[in-house]
Amino acid sequence: MSVVTEDILEAAAALRAGKLVAFATETVYGLGADATNDAAVARIFSAKGRPQFNPLISHVGTPTEAMELGVFDEKATRLAEALWPGPLTLVVPRRQGCAISLLASAGLDSLAIRVPAHTQAQSLLQAAGVPVAAPSANPSGRLSPTATAHVIKGLGDKVDVILDGGNCEIGVESTVVGCLGEEAVLLRAGGVAVSDIEAVIGQPIKQAANCPEALASPGMLASHYAPRARLRLNALHIEGDEAVLAFGPNLAAHRGRMLNLSPTGDVDEAAANLFAMLHILDDQDTSDIAVMPIPDSGLGLAINDRLRRAANRDD
Ligand code: TXA
Ligand code: MG
Repeated sequence: MSVVTEDILEAAAALRAGKLVAFATETVYGLGADATNDAAVARIFSAKGRPQFNPLISHVGTPTEAMELGVFDEKATRLAEALWPGPLTLVVPRRQGCAISLLASAGLDSLAIRVPAHTQAQSLLQAAGVPVAAPSANPSGRLSPTATAHVIKGLGDKVDVILDGGNCEIGVESTVVGCLGEEAVLLRAGGVAVSDIEAVIGQPIKQAANCPEALASPGMLASHYAPRARLRLNALHIEGDEAVLAFGPNLAAHRGRMLNLSPTGDVDEAAANLFAMLHILDDQDTSDIAVMPIPDSGLGLAINDRLRRAANRDD
């Protein structure tokens, strides 16, 4: 770990090399990784010790870059034009071919995106040249950090570079607004006042609590990616013409479709591959996927949580 003040280029190079960089925004410090790199994004979850794959916010330098990644309707466009750069995150549909890692959006077909105003965050994003996925830079379940001392205390050696940008001016996370349907929905109160958002959209904003399709817990969102195929978890053998989502070395030969989350049995690598491999298997003509057991250690917890949700869909 190195703590630097102005070494934007070192931090940008670390991001491009798949490393973790903590950096200041005007809200709180973020734990950043290249949002287009599955393995780097997996490292964020691993460092935070998140038991679930909550979707992450991708940070970009300009509204134009944001609009290349997501589909902005009229309300989203107006909010972006009025309040970016700033402490606002918009949740919009992913654009087709969007380069953001599926793990960063936890398999959702939507994308949380933000253009921060902090000058150091702006310089970093510009120098990195890639969108940066960043949750708050604290261990899961702990307070959000507003100074480098908090980041060091909470995550210390789990971060490759800590960029010192001083104390965060706002000190609470960004306001999260969903722009996925007819109405804008307040998904999280934060740095932008609700009245400012309502002034831009010209009407009261819908609260997530009154909106069954956008439950506060994003893991429960109706739009959460669920495979069409049926998943059979903890499979020790293969039945019929099941496709196989494998884990670990020394697998028996399989004539059908098989993808291995991590041939070396590394749960971080498995997390990085999870959503992309589920998509590939689900796109095949297969109605059943056997998933081999994955240990509950480290990111294995989050992988198994996600797999259980995908297996217990209602249909
Ligand atoms: O101020 C902030 O927002 C900080 C700085 C670093 O930008 N970041 C932050 O990230 O607070 P995090 O991961 O702690 O919170 C992300 C929030 C969560 O409430 C998550 O549920 C929501 O954004 N979110 C992310 N993607 C979403 C999606 N596709 N749909 C709905 N909610 C989403
Ligand atoms: Mg947080």
